[in-house]
Amino acid sequence: MKKKSVHILAIESSCDDTSAAVLENERVLSNVVANQKVHAQYGGVVPELASRAHQQNIVPVVDLALKRANVRKEDLDGIAFTQGPGLLGSLLVGSSFAKSLSIALNIPLMAVNHMQAHVLAHFIEDEAQKIPPFPFLCMTISGGHTQILRVSAFDSFEILGETIDDAVGEAFDKTAKLLGLPYPGGPLIDKHASQGDPLAFSFSEPKTENPLDFSFSGLKTAILYFLQREQKKNPDFIHQRMDDICASVQRTIVTILMNRLKKAADMTGIKHVGIAGGVSANSEIRSTLRAMQESDGWTTYIPKFEYTTDNAAMIGIVGYLKYLNQDFDREDSVASSRLDMEK
Ligand code: KG4
Ligand code: ZN
Repeated sequence: MKKKSVHILAIESSCDDTSAAVLENERVLSNVVANQKVHAQYGGVVPELASRAHQQNIVPVVDLALKRANVRKEDLDGIAFTQGPGLLGSLLVGSSFAKSLSIALNIPLMAVNHMQAHVLAHFIEDEAQKIPPFPFLCMTISGGHTQILRVSAFDSFEILGETIDDAVGEAFDKTAKLLGLPYPGGPLIDKHASQGDPLAFSFSEPKTENPLDFSFSGLKTAILYFLQREQKKNPDFIHQRMDDICASVQRTIVTILMNRLKKAADMTGIKHVGIAGGVSANSEIRSTLRAMQESDGWTTYIPKFEYTTDNAAMIGIVGYLKYLNQDFDREDSVASSRLDMEK
């Protein structure tokens, strides 16, 4: 029997990207993302400006997502939105819009956890990615989170390790700031690193009590002192050695991440390993993970690029799964800046 076609509109507004997507079951028909350029000049996301930009973007972004999908709003079966975690003012724009539209169209509403969505982006049906079996390990690496999770079912997550201070995306972005690169600096470090020598400089790997936990704040301080020392000797140091500095910092970060992930795989015996979140766009992380297929016998899962950074398609896949389970939310559900994954 042919599966019923379910159309879900999804809205993501947790940080500085306004995004809307339309899914037909597990497939993405459209995924529109409006980036907010306004933050680059401030070296980081300014929450007040982010919510204001979401207000400006949300209607045209949703409109475009429906047009590209060739779906009328009357044909929608449900609406999914990001409930949290994220910036409260930003979340309120998306959640209020989603609630109003669900009331107007009289269709179910699904509140989605942003971090769960990063992980379940693996379950979007797309020729460019493969779907992991349960249980699998997922290293979720973004601007706000760094976690290694054992994923046993769509709604069953266990945190095996996480950062005790900065997220890995912050490590990239703060290093970029020290180097005078604009926000978000992660992609720029990646770009410079591709031209540099990763062994030019070395930074030590931080120790944590739980061997699967991460710590990045010490690395930032080490890089700051290193740059100050070198600039005393040569004021043009950063400019002259940008590629080598970026390659060395990136190698250090990737080594920290992969050592923890390898330990988690050894400890659990799980050989299906994926990555998720904005930092999984990083080219060295992607190539190192691919290499682990050979060296460690892993099967690895890397989401398509557009489903790694913040996007509404990943909210849509969770919305669809919740829709199938009739796990609906009420109009009085509230946005929340903190949301627990393990609940
Ligand atoms: O998941 P995401 O889009 O937003 C959050 O939920 O945080 O992740 C954004 C983070 C930023 O810190 C950005 O610098 C980083 O992902 N990022 C990268 C790359 N592309 C994005 N970091 C390193 N290399 C990249 N190619
Ligand atoms: Zn994210």
